[in-house]
Amino acid sequence: MLEEKNKHYHIINYGCQMNQSDSEHYAGQLESFDYQLAGHYSGADLVLINTCCIRESAEKKIHGKIGELKHWKEARPGSVMVLAGCMAQKDGEKLLAKYRQLDLVLGTFHISRFAQILAEFSESRQRRVVVDEELSDDEFAGSVSRRSGFSAWTPIMYGCNNFCTYCIVPYVRGRERSRSEEEIVAEVRRAVAAGYKEFTLLGQNVNSYGLDWGKKGSFAKLLQSVDEIKGVERVRFMTSHPRDMGEDVVAAVAEGKHLCEHFHLPVQAGSDRIIAAMNRGYSREEYLKLVALVRSYLPAASITTDIIVGFPGETDEDFAATCSLVEEVGYDAAYTFLYSARSGTPAAKMPDQVALAVKKERLKKLMEIQNASGLKRNQALLGSVEEVMLEGASQTDVNMLTGRTRTNKIVVWPRSGGDMPPGALVPVLITAAQTWILKGQKENDS
Ligand code: 5AD
Ligand code: SF4
Repeated sequence: MLEEKNKHYHIINYGCQMNQSDSEHYAGQLESFDYQLAGHYSGADLVLINTCCIRESAEKKIHGKIGELKHWKEARPGSVMVLAGCMAQKDGEKLLAKYRQLDLVLGTFHISRFAQILAEFSESRQRRVVVDEELSDDEFAGSVSRRSGFSAWTPIMYGCNNFCTYCIVPYVRGRERSRSEEEIVAEVRRAVAAGYKEFTLLGQNVNSYGLDWGKKGSFAKLLQSVDEIKGVERVRFMTSHPRDMGEDVVAAVAEGKHLCEHFHLPVQAGSDRIIAAMNRGYSREEYLKLVALVRSYLPAASITTDIIVGFPGETDEDFAATCSLVEEVGYDAAYTFLYSARSGTPAAKMPDQVALAVKKERLKKLMEIQNASGLKRNQALLGSVEEVMLEGASQTDVNMLTGRTRTNKIVVWPRSGGDMPPGALVPVLITAAQTWILKGQKENDS
């Protein structure tokens, strides 16, 4: 492998946190293969695009990027271009045939085999697609290369068993498989030793962690185990499925010392008819009960959600139910999406697809309602002192620092006094509230 020395890699990541975590795995394997990070693809000998296919808009962007990289590839004989992730899993053969600049197309089932596949490619220079769904025992093995220095993605399970009718994920990431608690705890311990303080436990549906071994209550227990690891300052988790989220998890967060009071509970829609057509497995009433349960244990917890507008058959009345639910819950933030038909999913074939103009109009209205709600929730924090984990200088003003509250709200405050390292916990007095950010000043700095 000596000839690989002094080569550079660049990863372009799209999609969710799970993809970011997978990209850290690819980076770790490339580094163990003696590649070094390049800040931009122009300085790289290997470019890996980690793809997402959750909505058509994501795919369009990625097609554009693959096209853009054609010139990079042509100008660098011997360079390697890898397409990985969900879109690669979905359309592997087609993509390899369409884009001559691609060397390797690697789906989501063989992340830990990347270094080996790359080594084989270096020998043979044979273009190749690896999308078979045969899982190996060492699926989760391999070193990761993290960059933030203080906050670590920690995958606890891969795949999804839910088959929401709009969603492509179960088709491109396979069935649920959970990592063992020992493996997760060992990974967190190693990251703590490397200086990491915040851990986000990741899975498509973290509440069903361990159910693949038939063990109920495993997620709450895992939260407790990670909470107890010395050096862990904050533990987050996502994504929760409202159908599977039990009181044991809410109670664990309430009792835990480092478990952050933030619940991301994707509701997707507010009308029972649409929730059922989405195959979500809960009713509006059950969802609202869950929100009430969270607030009964943790009145100050933040609650965020995902919502899709324009699901097939969504009427004005159904949409009004989504708006009223958003008002009733009073979310801290909501990620709102236009429904995007994904071929192969049941919803793509449903009648009464909603016109784009209608979807856009509904999205605009929903965002207005949510923005008002987010602002109100943030204004409630005016005058309070929040524990903020420092991330670093603000991107827009080097004289300002930025970080997050335990409830995952972004806070910006003026830099003052000596430099603190990223990951430091800073008490910040909140003095101004906007829809997406809070402003403040370090306590005792007035
Ligand atoms: N169209 C629009 N949004 C979608 N999501 C998942 N599938 C689709 C789709 N086909 C949204 C859901 C999910 C989030 C990650 O993406 O709201 O929670
Ligand atoms: Fe993540 Fe889903 Fe996009 Fe895959 S398709 S990257 S699992 S959001």
